[in-house]
Amino acid sequence: MAKVSPSLLAADFTELGAEIQSVESADMLHFDVMDGVFVPNISFGLPVLKAVREATRLPLDVHLMIIKPGRLVERFCDMGADTVTFHVEADEPEEIRRAIMAVKAKGKRVGLSVKPATPVSALEPFAELLDNILIMAVEPGFGGQSFIYEAVPKMTEARALAERLGISCDVEVDGGVNRETGRICVDAGANALVAGSFIFRSADRRGEIEYLRGLK
Ligand code: DX5
Ligand code: ZN
Repeated sequence: MAKVSPSLLAADFTELGAEIQSVESADMLHFDVMDGVFVPNISFGLPVLKAVREATRLPLDVHLMIIKPGRLVERFCDMGADTVTFHVEADEPEEIRRAIMAVKAKGKRVGLSVKPATPVSALEPFAELLDNILIMAVEPGFGGQSFIYEAVPKMTEARALAERLGISCDVEVDGGVNRETGRICVDAGANALVAGSFIFRSADRRGEIEYLRGLK
């Protein structure tokens, strides 16, 4: 069984409440925050997260694509994030560690993500602290891109790392996930799938969520 996290970035923002309701059968809701600096795009942030928190009981899977995430992680926790995942490339190692500890001190799940060009070994110094490892299968910044197959061995590596350390950490994949690539990810060791355009462009969102969840 895989956990399924529909990415709100692909929703119709003029109908956000109804869009969230339409994916309520998922395991969590993926919320992409972009700052226009770490990635060449700007999405949505704290006030929208607050509104989303009030609109759903789903756990909120917040993905920060921002530089120096330690400045803001506590505020995302306070606005209703259940998991806060940020990028290992986004600051110096000691600041990344500080940000991880700040999320944990709030009692929330914490994750680190790697862009396609960053090896899983970059996460090793922090791995024992993590609840989530997020492997990007596209360059972060935009929905609707094609899956980068070179990311697949990184899922196996991340799963092996978690097993070696004896930690129960999700291995989550983000970008280009659909029926075919989702199966490849789960076969490679991922247990959580983010899917934006695949779910929100489908006429049967519930059915596609069930399909992805059934992958093992
Ligand atoms: C990309 C975001 C993704 C995006 C995925 O930077 O982090 O979460 O919404 O979109 P799809 O599933 O359309 O590739
Ligand atoms: Zn994301």
